Amino acid sequence: MSWADFQYEIYLNGLTGAVPRLPTDLTRLEELAAARLGPGPVGYVAGSAGDGSTARANRAALDRRRIVPRMLRDVRERDLSVELLGRPLPAPVALAPVGVLSILHPDAEPAAARSAAARGIPYILSSASSTPMEQVAEAMGEEGERWFQLYWPKDVEVARSFLRRAEAAGYTALFVTLDTPLLSWRPRDLDQAYLPFLHGVGTANYFSDPAFRAGLAKPVEEDPNAAVMHFVSMFADPGKTWPDLAFLRENWDGPIVLKGVLHPDDARAAADAGMDGVVVSNHGGRQVAGAIAAADALPAVADAVGDRLTVLFDSGIRTGADVAKALALGASGVLVGRPYAYGLALDGGPGVDHVIRCLLAELDLTLALSGHASPNTLSRADLSESAPL
Ligand code: FNR
Repeated sequence: MSWADFQYEIYLNGLTGAVPRLPTDLTRLEELAAARLGPGPVGYVAGSAGDGSTARANRAALDRRRIVPRMLRDVRERDLSVELLGRPLPAPVALAPVGVLSILHPDAEPAAARSAAARGIPYILSSASSTPMEQVAEAMGEEGERWFQLYWPKDVEVARSFLRRAEAAGYTALFVTLDTPLLSWRPRDLDQAYLPFLHGVGTANYFSDPAFRAGLAKPVEEDPNAAVMHFVSMFADPGKTWPDLAFLRENWDGPIVLKGVLHPDDARAAADAGMDGVVVSNHGGRQVAGAIAAADALPAVADAVGDRLTVLFDSGIRTGADVAKALALGASGVLVGRPYAYGLALDGGPGVDHVIRCLLAELDLTLALSGHASPNTLSRADLSESAPL
C-alpha cells in the first residue's frame, strides 16, 4: 500500500455511488468551514495578524516556487518514510500545535490526535489545548507519536510541572514556541472581542495543573474568573532571552525544538544553546503582519544550521505540492496547521483523517510524477527559482 492508493480507494468506492464527504482539494476547506462555523471561531482560525499580509505572503512564497518534474526515473517502489528527531515516521509531516480545538468541534484534540496516531503521524499538542495532555495521550494509545508544544509560562513551577507531566504522559519531544511572548494585533478577533481563553476555553492544561492550582486562593471550580486571570498573568513571558533556554535543557531529556525561528542567526543561537531543532515558522501569519514569508526564510536557515539541527517548516502548507516544495527548500519535515483544523471543524476525527490522507496521497504522487521515489532526493535544484528553465 502506498499513500497514493487512496485515490484508487476513492474511485473504487465510486462504483457504489459514494463520493468523498469532503473536497480532496484541501484549499477548499477554509471556505466550507467558514460557512459552517460561527463568526467567532472562524475568525479565530482563519484570521491572522494585522491586515493578513503575512498569511498571504506565506502562500505567495510557496506558489511562486514551481517544481521542475524529471522524467524516466524509476518510481515504482516509493517510500515517504523519514527519521525526525530520532523517531522513524511514515512521512515527513506532523500535525502542528493548534490550541482551543473545542471551538471547532466537540471531539476536539482527542479526535485529531487519534486520527494522527491511526496513520502514524505525530501529533503536537498545544499548551493551550481544550483537553488536558494526559487525556489526549490516552486517546492516542501507547504507540501514538506525540510531541508537546510549550507556551513557556512566566511561573517557573508551572513550567516545570508541564514538562514533568508531558514526559510522564509519553510526549517524546518538546516544541517551544518563541514567537508568541505577546498576543499579536488580530483585527478579526478584536472586532468581535473574541478571545476563547477568557471564557476558560483552551486553559485545560493549566486548570488541571497542580502547580497552577496551588497559586489560586480558591479552587478553579469555585472561582473560575480568578483562575482565568491567573492564567492570563502567567501565560507568556516577554522577558525571556536566549540564556533562559538552559532551564529547558535541564528539565527536559528528549529533543527540544524551537518553533518560530526566521533568522539564520537565531537558528545558530538555537544550535549553540544545545537545542535539537527549529521550526521555520511565522505562526501561520498570526503574529507579525509584514513579516517575511516562512518559505522565504527557510533556505537561509537550512544553510546556516542544516548540519547541526533538524530543520522543520510550517506556515502556508495546503497541498502535497507545498510539502514537496518545503522539503526541496531545505526542511526535513513540515507541520500542517489550519487544514486539519478545518477538517476537524467539518467532520470531526474522520475529517482530520481525510486531510492527512489527501495531503500524503498528493505528496506521494507529486514526488513520483516529478521523478522522486523518496523525499530524500529533493533539493533546491528541483524548483524553478534555483533552476530556471
Ligand atoms: C495556531 N498555532 C499555534 N502554535 C503554537 O505553537 N501553539 C498554539 O497553541 C497554536 N495555536 C494555533 C491556533 C490556530 C487556530 C492556528 C491557525 C494556529 C500555529 C500553528 O502551530 C502553525 O504554526 C500554523 O498554523 C502554521 O500555519 P498554517 O499551516 O495554518 O498556514
